[in-house]
Amino acid sequence: MKRDFVHITDFSADEIREVFELTAKMKTLVKEGKEYTPLKGKNLAMIFAKPSARTRVSFETGMSQLGGHAIYLSPNDIGIGKREAVKDIARVISRYDDIIMARLFDHAHMLELAEYSTVPVINGLTDLNHPCQIMADIFTVLEHRKHLNDLKIAFIGDGNNVANSWINLAARLPMHFVLASPSGYDPDEDILKNARNVGISRIDILRDPVEAVQDADVIYTDVWASMGQEAEAAQRRKDFMPYQVNRELMSHAKEDVLVMHCLPAHRGDEITDDVIDGPNSIVFDEAENRMHVQKAIMVKLLQA
Ligand code: CP
Ligand code: NVA
Repeated sequence: MKRDFVHITDFSADEIREVFELTAKMKTLVKEGKEYTPLKGKNLAMIFAKPSARTRVSFETGMSQLGGHAIYLSPNDIGIGKREAVKDIARVISRYDDIIMARLFDHAHMLELAEYSTVPVINGLTDLNHPCQIMADIFTVLEHRKHLNDLKIAFIGDGNNVANSWINLAARLPMHFVLASPSGYDPDEDILKNARNVGISRIDILRDPVEAVQDADVIYTDVWASMGQEAEAAQRRKDFMPYQVNRELMSHAKEDVLVMHCLPAHRGDEITDDVIDGPNSIVFDEAENRMHVQKAIMVKLLQA
């Protein structure tokens, strides 16, 4: 039975740990300049309905390092759900390629793609979630802290796709996850309810960013207007300005707090230059780890 990675919760806690072990092993091999090509002869189709830098480059480079090949399909190529039915695309690409990664707007399209594909589907972001990002994020936290015990994550900003995937992670690994957002920008209710029902993590939704960062190990932020929300950008800038991650907010956090951002960052909006370029920031380790973690996810799905 083929496996997909559409939500963090598609993996068990043990499987998440296995992915981290494989990631660490493969990252070391890259650093040592050693080849590891378990996906020789395999082809990855990458379907993009939205722009991307990290997701495209990390998947394409990662696939090449693994000995395989990646095909980039731009928003103009497929027109998923517009030019052609999602289920037809799923069935056609499954006849050519060994694995699919897609970045789509509508999460229902991602579910349909996974349902009708006969090869594994990896979610490279939808309006609802961004699981590969959060796998890379938590791996980066693990690298820096050496363990994930007593972890407090303070997510400052929009209860968006990235926040939703953090909450999904909290349904698999124990943590204290706090989201500080303005009223009206809460995360997905079902995802929150599920994670709270699983009951291994404490999840708080607050309005006060200063309260959120108290004793946090990680301060995390993301853009205030996600891809597809450009028309709301001006209103969101007003609503979110009190949630800017800046020197003042940092003064309420632990001295060694890790600062993370999935990127692209809107410098001067959700995060100031001095913080993103400052000593607490690990954003470029985080960006690099997208590639290492996704390589492990692809190997895991293809060797399942
Ligand atoms: N963080 C992330 O997914 O970046 P891109 O949108 O550039 O792929
Ligand atoms: N929340 C952002 C993440 C970008 C990687 C967006 O969806 O645009």
